[in-house]
Amino acid sequence: MQFKGNTDKSSARYWNDLAELYQRETRISTDDFHYGPLLPGDSVLKLLPSVPQRSCLEIGCGAGQNSVFLAKQGAHCTAIDISEEQLAHGRKIAAAEKTSVDFRCISMDAMGDPGRFDLIHSTYALPFSADPQKVIADAAAMLNPGGTFLLSVGHPLYAGEWLEIGDGEEGLFLPNYFEPEPDVRMSLDDRTMSAAQYWPVSTVAEWIHDAGMVIQRLLEPAPMPIPEMSETEIRAKVPYEGAGWRELYPNLARVPVVVIFKCRCA
Ligand SMILES: C[S@@+](CC[C@H](N)C(=O)[O-])C[C@H]1O[C@@H](n2cnc3c(N)ncnc32)[C@H](O)[C@@H]1O
Repeated sequence: MQFKGNTDKSSARYWNDLAELYQRETRISTDDFHYGPLLPGDSVLKLLPSVPQRSCLEIGCGAGQNSVFLAKQGAHCTAIDISEEQLAHGRKIAAAEKTSVDFRCISMDAMGDPGRFDLIHSTYALPFSADPQKVIADAAAMLNPGGTFLLSVGHPLYAGEWLEIGDGEEGLFLPNYFEPEPDVRMSLDDRTMSAAQYWPVSTVAEWIHDAGMVIQRLLEPAPMPIPEMSETEIRAKVPYEGAGWRELYPNLARVPVVVIFKCRCA
């Protein structure tokens, strides 16, 4: 099957198909704010602004565990995703946590005007957009003055391929940093494809600049030291993890899996 790029229809089908497995195989905490697999949460990275009573929008929320966390701190949370199945998980989690999040099935590529916000955040969803520069511009337009945009996207180095380089050593082969290969995936029923895109760090920085925002922090966090941690510590301190991610720890410990931008609306 030839991949022609993500559309709202193909993304909805792909993520509806995957939602059950994604939520079952990934342990995502609602007691911390996560930025990506095996990474420290915001309790360590401390990028979040003060959130009580603030209006927050999560873009590509999945089951919205980050929004549930923020709502538990007293924020007013809206969370959008293209997949009704992902959102259904989110509504159950919010109800179980006795908190309220306004989950809406909206594509980030056609957000319309869902309101004005003090914080807009998105963790590993922008890579699935058909027009990421527009998503960033639209987010900037929805921020209240002085508001924060917190964005986690796939790190372009992670688009490389791990290869044996001799003497039992493995190294990263990255054919072209400036045009990283997308990560194309098949749905479980083999009927739909989806691709996560990677971009050079400076490309995303320029999109943020062009949208009129200022980058306050840029992080390429290393994972938590999983092999040295007990199961209890992992559960308490690693807000996004799973068996598949634990197996990838040796790679994640050598190359950043995400790059995080904390931006301020000028
Ligand atoms: C890797 S998951 C991340 C979900 C969530 N942010 C998390 O950290 O668990 C990517 C999410 O992006 C959503 N997505 C893909 N394309 C989208 C689009 N065009 N508009 C909104 N959400 C989209 C998927 O449905 C999926 O829930």
